Amino acid sequence: MTSVAMSQSSKSQKPKGFTIWMTGLSGSGKSTLAGVLKEKFETRYGRFVEILDGDEIRKGLSRDLGLSREDREEHARRVSYLAKVLSRNGVISIVALISPYRVSRESAKETIGSDKFVEVYIKASLAKCEERDPKGLYAKARKGEIKNMTGISDPYEPPESPDITIETELGSPEESAKVLIQGLENLGFEL
Ligand SMILES: Nc1ncnc2c1ncn2[C@@H]1O[C@H](COP(=O)(O)OP(=O)(O)OP(=O)(O)O)[C@@H](O)[C@H]1O
Ligand SMILES: [Mg+2]
Repeated sequence: MTSVAMSQSSKSQKPKGFTIWMTGLSGSGKSTLAGVLKEKFETRYGRFVEILDGDEIRKGLSRDLGLSREDREEHARRVSYLAKVLSRNGVISIVALISPYRVSRESAKETIGSDKFVEVYIKASLAKCEERDPKGLYAKARKGEIKNMTGISDPYEPPESPDITIETELGSPEESAKVLIQGLENLGFEL
């Protein structure tokens, strides 16, 4: 095979990258689901996957940012940029970010490209998230030890028309992952 033919064939085989943008309250299940999905995309579909987890990125790229509206928007902007460069190179980016503001999610869609962007609402009631409280943040927020806690002392703007909604109170993470994969297939994404 000539090098031209080789580069053409490898180009046509390149899988399409895209971004699964998970938004939802703290404790709704974003990170848990991201982990389950990554494993499935890698082992079952042989895809390259990167999880862009808000908490992790706050330890590095966004360590200068706090929890004000302005900083949350800037955090989402940085994550959008990472998702964009990964997605355009065939990677499935799974964003696990509270991303409470609609305007941030709309900008993310614009940055990444609407054909490569899937907004997934990870939905659970505040009461359920508080009951789960996997990091003990709600308890601290109720005691006034944490300010700017989304859902308690900071707003959360639920998506008005998400591409996919996953109700994590209705099943296990494994079941939620199946519903999400089915949703991607229904939207025409090839895995
Ligand atoms: N269907 C489900 N999908 C995801 N998580 C679930 C589900 N059912 C129960 N859970 C539980 O809910 C909790 C979700 O916590 P997780 O850390 O994933 O939330 P998060 O949305 O990433 O929160 P944060 O924004 O604070 O990082 C876990 O303890 C998980 O086991
Ligand atoms: Mg998380």
